[in-house]
Amino acid sequence: MDKIIVEGGRALKGEVAISGAKNAALPILTTSLLTEGRNTYHNVPNLKDVESIKELLAYLCADVDTEGSTVHIKAAGLCKSEAPYDLVRKMRASILVLGPLLARVGKARVSLPGGCAIGARPINLHLKGLAKLGASITLEHGYVEASADRLVGDDIYFDMPTVTGTENLMMAAVLAKGTTVLRNVAREPEIIALADVLSRMGADIEGAGSSVITINGVAGLNPVEVTVIPDRIEAGTFMAAAALTRGDVTLHQCEPEHLRAVIDKLAQVGAEVTIHGRSVRVKGPEEIASVDIKTLPYPGFPTDMQAQFMVLMSVARGLSLFTETIFENRYIHVSELRRLGADITVSGNSAMVKGVPRLSGAPVMATDLRASASLILAGLVAEGTTVINRVYHLDRGYEAIEKKMAGLGAAIRRE
Ligand code: EPZ
Repeated sequence: MDKIIVEGGRALKGEVAISGAKNAALPILTTSLLTEGRNTYHNVPNLKDVESIKELLAYLCADVDTEGSTVHIKAAGLCKSEAPYDLVRKMRASILVLGPLLARVGKARVSLPGGCAIGARPINLHLKGLAKLGASITLEHGYVEASADRLVGDDIYFDMPTVTGTENLMMAAVLAKGTTVLRNVAREPEIIALADVLSRMGADIEGAGSSVITINGVAGLNPVEVTVIPDRIEAGTFMAAAALTRGDVTLHQCEPEHLRAVIDKLAQVGAEVTIHGRSVRVKGPEEIASVDIKTLPYPGFPTDMQAQFMVLMSVARGLSLFTETIFENRYIHVSELRRLGADITVSGNSAMVKGVPRLSGAPVMATDLRASASLILAGLVAEGTTVINRVYHLDRGYEAIEKKMAGLGAAIRRE
């Protein structure tokens, strides 16, 4: 079991390149199921979760070839329409094959993803939408069994914005008969990126990025060659690390437009953020001001940046109130941060953070992807040595994070 050791006290300085976005790559690779042709995807990040979706697509008999950060996928002859438990439990986003399989072969048997550390993560809204398109859906033995001779477009309202729910319905509707209107959809950049890929494949889709997406079904889709957008959460994580360590870091190959909420908060805490095209420079303040954080669906402050900002506020001056509105259990990192000396009180979906002069290094346990990143950030400023165990969580969503951090001068290594 790998662990990461960090010596605190170094300011991060220099330049870092941001990788392709995990949460864009996962749905985009899955669109390969919607055509028989050979697709080419560039800037695909080298992550455990990407390996998992490639493994699942290969299990369905798609040809998957990887050349560095370029992945070719040809799903000509699908031999199965099932996503088995041992693959889905490794990565819940495997549920994204449900929509495309229904659209392509008219049936799908996908293991229920089950919960994860941050919450129950139900998929009821995915299933309600697919049923509205005419799929018959049963749940038995831990699997979703779905079938439809031909999906038929309809008007679907989501009780709340769901990123993968929106993505599943987009991929189902593009080959459905007639028009589908999706209302109260997620507006994340990853939704826009998916719509862009589907449009290039020949889909007729309007409105991605707004709350209403309209799709006119087409008879078939063609293969594409596309590039995955930059990972805004990886970028936000490095920006927070620069602000935290009084550093001076320039991020390249990122998309500042996707980071407006994070950039605004960094400015509020006193960091100096300057944007030059697809590069962003962050200079940390001498003293970090405390600000309140409330997570919201995009374009609000991203829940995937909550844990990282909690570290920032742990050593800020004053009190900051966190409100986590997306997931019901996304404060698992709090008990670990307390071990490092943070002063945090949780009550329901709120957390009150009282800034302390300094954190002190200790062994801690990673529990979920973004919590793991927050423990690395804490180690960067904690006095002495911090050892982060169970770093496989990190490898799901960050490409070589310790190498990138070391490249910026951090005293960090993996064992
Ligand atoms: C996506 O998860 C991301 N994952 C998450 O990133 C991200 O935190 C989340 O969106 C919110 O932004 C991928 O894109 C692969 P949701 P997703 O459906 O789609 C409730 C990371 O660290 N809900 O938008 O699973 C749900 O319980 C990960 O990279 C239902 O109730 O999240 C949650 O409270 C973590 N029923 C809220 O909606 C449903 O059918 C938003 O969840 C679907 C969702």
